[in-house]
Amino acid sequence: MPRPLIATIDIAALRHNFGIAKTATPHARAWAVVKANAYGHGLARGLRGFADADGLALIEVEGAVRLRELGWTKPILLLEGFFEPADLSVVMEHQLTVAVHSKEQIDMLAATKFPAPVDVYLKMNSGMNRLGFVPADFPAAYARLRALTGIGTVTLMTHFANADDAYHPRLSVDEQMQRFARGSAGISAPRCLSNSAAVLEHAHGAQDWTRPGIMLYGSSPGAKTAQDYGLLPAMHLHSQLIGIQTVPAGETVGYGSAYTAIKPTRVGIVACGYADGYPRHAPSGTPVLVDGLRTTLIGRVSMDMLAVDLSPIPHAQVGSRVTLWGDRLPIDEVAYAAGTIGYELMCALAPRVAVIER
Ligand SMILES: Cc1ncc(COP(=O)(O)O)c(C=O)c1O
Repeated sequence: MPRPLIATIDIAALRHNFGIAKTATPHARAWAVVKANAYGHGLARGLRGFADADGLALIEVEGAVRLRELGWTKPILLLEGFFEPADLSVVMEHQLTVAVHSKEQIDMLAATKFPAPVDVYLKMNSGMNRLGFVPADFPAAYARLRALTGIGTVTLMTHFANADDAYHPRLSVDEQMQRFARGSAGISAPRCLSNSAAVLEHAHGAQDWTRPGIMLYGSSPGAKTAQDYGLLPAMHLHSQLIGIQTVPAGETVGYGSAYTAIKPTRVGIVACGYADGYPRHAPSGTPVLVDGLRTTLIGRVSMDMLAVDLSPIPHAQVGSRVTLWGDRLPIDEVAYAAGTIGYELMCALAPRVAVIER
């Protein structure tokens, strides 16, 4: 008898959300970002959901190989590029496009003989201060790359720190775009800047290629809700009540006795815990649906279970359906209550959770 905890992945929602990205930036080609196992949705499902994408982008070299094995013939971009010289034989064999963000990577390319040209995304650090060449060093890095034999198209890329916050006081999208424009002035090459938030909030800045990720999975990347952007949730996490306790006033619930019943309370025990990917730090008050009705988490999340207040759902019984996120309970709302972001919840979905498709 399997545990009743099931993640449902909606392939049509993935397709729909990709369509929203395309509609927002119709003149750009789009990489669908499928790193971290397609943000927890499964690489094979991402491949089907984003069949219309111009390419798939990810971090994991072995994930790229898997995409080829699954039959993806369009471009694949490694967003962090390669890590050691041995990766370059995989890059060649599977015709991968690689981000190049460091002098060390250019050294490795210079020391390799390529039977066919390798396409490169040269990354500028325009203020994120994570990966890439600073604007002052960018033209020299480009010139060095271009001078190598075996390099195909070089696309210029950068990544925004605050595309989700149009008015960020420290580093705006416009400031990063200006730095990028200055650092790449005079270089005639395609450009790729926009993540999801930039696609939706700064569509005017989309250049030759975009790189949307989170929006494709139905989570909001910006100030508006996913629904306001027209996005559909692609991951639904459902379980059931597997126990009910009637807790007298003054008694506590769960580890650490972190929750005290102030009145006699029917408490539902849900088959879902932090070993399934539900955030342990979600506090009492985090929204949960039981039989489609809204209630809240109470007490500490355990490894395999969590507790909910059944006061608003007196008819609830063992076997009642529980929605942790998805249908009528946006993942962003749960993430917000837990002090995190939808990305983290999706990516944390544990391998032991059964996954079905709709
Ligand atoms: C380089 C790069 N491009 C694109 C993305 C997609 O970003 P988002 O999921 O916010 O759309 C990411 C994700 O972090 C990234 O690291």
